[in-house]
Amino acid sequence: MWGHQLKILSIETSCDETAISLLDITGPIEKPEVRVLGNSLYSQAKLHAEYGGVYPTLAKREHQKNLPILLEKTLREAGTDEVDFIAVTSGPGLEPALWTGIVFAQELGKKWQKPVVGINHMEGHIYSVLTSLEKDKDLALPALALLISGGHTELVLIKGFGNYQVIGRTLDDAAGEAYDKAARMLGLPYPGGPEISRLAEKAREEKVVPSFKLPRPMLHSPDLNFSFSGLKTAVLYKIRAAGELSESFKQEMAYEFEEAVCEVLVEKTRRALHKHQDIQSLIVAGGVAANQYLCSKLEGLRSDLPHLSTHFPTRTMATDNAIMIGLAAYIQVSLSPQLLKTETVLEANGNLSLN
Ligand code: KG4
Ligand code: ZN
Repeated sequence: MWGHQLKILSIETSCDETAISLLDITGPIEKPEVRVLGNSLYSQAKLHAEYGGVYPTLAKREHQKNLPILLEKTLREAGTDEVDFIAVTSGPGLEPALWTGIVFAQELGKKWQKPVVGINHMEGHIYSVLTSLEKDKDLALPALALLISGGHTELVLIKGFGNYQVIGRTLDDAAGEAYDKAARMLGLPYPGGPEISRLAEKAREEKVVPSFKLPRPMLHSPDLNFSFSGLKTAVLYKIRAAGELSESFKQEMAYEFEEAVCEVLVEKTRRALHKHQDIQSLIVAGGVAANQYLCSKLEGLRSDLPHLSTHFPTRTMATDNAIMIGLAAYIQVSLSPQLLKTETVLEANGNLSLN
């Protein structure tokens, strides 16, 4: 597709990461060449840790405080403030947090006389894999994306660039949220995903065999949906019954919890791939895609689908960042160049969906 060159300033504030990047992107959208001229990110995770999750008012205040600092840092690193347009996450996410980014982007757009384009955060996650494509590979469509983050668990059919169909989603908690809640019950810090996965890894290394089993919710349901709240309740009951939480109990729990989550995610993904035989690529993205154990299990799906390419983000591209927003913006603008010519009113939409 269209081989042009664009300099994009991208802004991400949908949750508890404030991030700004300045990218220079050129080339086809299925394999763009990306130069990161400047990139900065501030994670508020430690501030939210005492609430055990993200506290929206605090997130908003922190974004407001950090955006000007990160902008200066990014521009200094890039050595330029010459851009073609500004991209900002407009949803889904926490609305007060989203608004902060939008207002900041619009003020900057006015000052610099540059267009501002709203970007879907989940589209950002999808294209986060574009920076880690193998040398001779592009992103072949149709693709299936397993999007697993703190707020979302979705299976998305990507029929063409910009053409999405959500074919499975969680009916309650997201996968990352389940990790965070289980971790909290075990007395582990927020965000819980990395903590549980570290403990589970240790348990696997030490060949710990859990003395109990957790449920695999909806593993056998005929649809492609997920549910993780029952798993959370099962964890709670086991913890209550255990009384004092020993280190070995925590290891067993982390191991069994990770097995349960991974088994369901892998099985539903496998089913989606078999149902849609024309899928060329599997994209795994979102914060939970930082989990190496899960990614290796998903990679295993290729054993009976040899034509399938799998794409995983690097660890820093898996969790929220502004580079992925710039990438999604490049694709959006390549598909609809008029986006840069028409003035659009941007609004935060906490529930923005891909279709
Ligand atoms: O995509 P993300 O940074 O933010 C949202 O858009 O939600 O995802 C954050 C989520 C958190 O729930 C965090 O616990 C989870 O990703 N996470 C992990 C791992 N690293 C981060 N979950 C499991 N294993 C990990 N290694
Ligand atoms: Zn995210």
